[in-house]
Amino acid sequence: MKQENLRNVAIIAHVDHGKTTLVDRLLWSTHVFRANQQVEERVMDSNDQERERGITILSKNCSITYKDTKINIIDTPGHADFGGEVERVLNMADGALLIVDAYEGPKPQTRFVLSHALACGLRIVVVVNKIDRPNADPEGAIDKVFDLMVELGASDEQLDFPVVYASAVNGYARYDYNDGNMDMIPLLDTILKEIPAPDVDPDGPVALQVCTIDHSSYEGRIGVGRLHSGTMHEKEQVLVVRPDGTQRSAQVRKVYTFENLGKAEVPEAHAGDIIAVIGIEDADIGDVITDPENPVSMPPIAVEEPTMSVVFEASTSPIVGREGDIVGARQLKERLMREKEANISMRINETEDKSGVEVAGRGVLHLSVLMESMRREGFEFQVGRPQVVYKIDEAGNKLEPIEEATVDVPNDYAGKAIEVMGNAGGIMEDMASDDSVTHLTFKIPSRGTMGLKTRILNATHGEAVLFHRFREYGPYSGEMPGRKNGSMIAMSTGKAVAYALDTLQERGRLFVKPGDECYEGMIVGESAKEGDMVVNVEKTKNLGNQRSSTADKAIQLTPPITFTLEEALEYIEDDELVEVTPQSIRLRKRLLS
Ligand code: GTP
Repeated sequence: MKQENLRNVAIIAHVDHGKTTLVDRLLWSTHVFRANQQVEERVMDSNDQERERGITILSKNCSITYKDTKINIIDTPGHADFGGEVERVLNMADGALLIVDAYEGPKPQTRFVLSHALACGLRIVVVVNKIDRPNADPEGAIDKVFDLMVELGASDEQLDFPVVYASAVNGYARYDYNDGNMDMIPLLDTILKEIPAPDVDPDGPVALQVCTIDHSSYEGRIGVGRLHSGTMHEKEQVLVVRPDGTQRSAQVRKVYTFENLGKAEVPEAHAGDIIAVIGIEDADIGDVITDPENPVSMPPIAVEEPTMSVVFEASTSPIVGREGDIVGARQLKERLMREKEANISMRINETEDKSGVEVAGRGVLHLSVLMESMRREGFEFQVGRPQVVYKIDEAGNKLEPIEEATVDVPNDYAGKAIEVMGNAGGIMEDMASDDSVTHLTFKIPSRGTMGLKTRILNATHGEAVLFHRFREYGPYSGEMPGRKNGSMIAMSTGKAVAYALDTLQERGRLFVKPGDECYEGMIVGESAKEGDMVVNVEKTKNLGNQRSSTADKAIQLTPPITFTLEEALEYIEDDELVEVTPQSIRLRKRLLS
């Protein structure tokens, strides 16, 4: 039965194409905010870190009400490391708003999210955003979306997609990009008209599959999912079926629905709605919460496995003149063990010698988000170089995580991009080009992706757009040709160093270690002082048939250039540690024991 007064819409886009801004505007225009309420610009990215990084990390739900219809809006993360969440939240929706920048057109993340949305059979509404940008080419963007959909195997119905033009930042949406409309109404009307109402059985047995887990220190674990059928009541007796088939009975304590920006406790929730269930202590992603008398089975959903791990240890910095203090070590462990409860997508265990805690996540960004939160909470710790999580299959073969990488690059730099990818262990699977841009697809071991973005940017004068995500575990492919895994890019003298300096200033990327000591392999003209910025110039390794050269000077820069934890993790060497304190992030040599 169609729930005509309900819509479930996912918002999908490439990073920075304006998802969060658009959702803010929809909230504003349906009066979720009281007129005089002070609201910061981007309400969806509630957490400080997200605001600073400008990327949406955790998917969030909110709802608006328009013309007596409740519209659940499911925001999705925009970064490759969070790809698993995109897939899961798409399962809760009946349609998707695909936001595409009118100037940039579809990008690698657009391709990735769109392919999943199409495969889930979702109705797609294309929102061409940023039509206010100079040089915006809305029609060109639509043509490219159409071509992409054909390439991705969209059905005829999906190819007949409605289009709305928007300038989220200016708060308007239009049926035609120059029709002069100045509010969001055309987009709201299009959602009601084009996104199908959920078609569910309100009288069937209760069934919900947990798609995301939230955690509150007061309520404990919160399972979020779409109510597939039936009515879920507070205090309902249910059966919880794990993806492996094991079952247990449990009692739901409370039921919440998403109302405006928050959750509202309700005595009962109805089929088709997206709800939060409280009281099932060990609820996990993929669990089906159902009627014990008449259990419903649902197809299992995928949870991405951790592919990278780091070891956290209490800080033992000689620079601040302190040997790791015991209290610090205990608190660090307790904090990480608490994270284990809330964050099921990470694997967290004490190391065998109990000196540290090993944390495995789905890539460097995933790990650095946790570290950054802890840093802000006041923790001090150090971590070693992230390690790939290997597996052994039944036949005893060593397997490693393999990713799919796409590179969009101007034709002139395609050769350079292919060379960088090859040196990182990438194997080209596809190459397609138009008048200006070459689109390359590779299969690459996760090991090879460490620091890859900066290497490819340097080789292509900042033009390449790299995107990579986990694909599968495959046979270990041995040592990489020509370079140490994930080691820092080698820079030779003269021009190359000068060029690196340009990109540093432009991008503030990590070739610089604040106040670093100078050590072997890092050649400096003058020795650096504490607080100076030193470009870490490495001896060029002998790269097979390539010329080897030696850098002869380092460059000291002021003012300081900062780098993020994510960058530090990408560039750290095996014999180094990233030392994290609330005041600073620094790389230093491991002490010889
Ligand atoms: P993630 O959360 O990282 O996935 O990004 P997002 O897709 O949510 O993008 P966000 O809303 O953060 O917007 C990215 C940038 O584009 C911000 O600087 C916005 O101010 C800007 N922006 C958003 N919409 C528009 C628009 O309509 N026109 C212009 N000119 N800029 C816009």
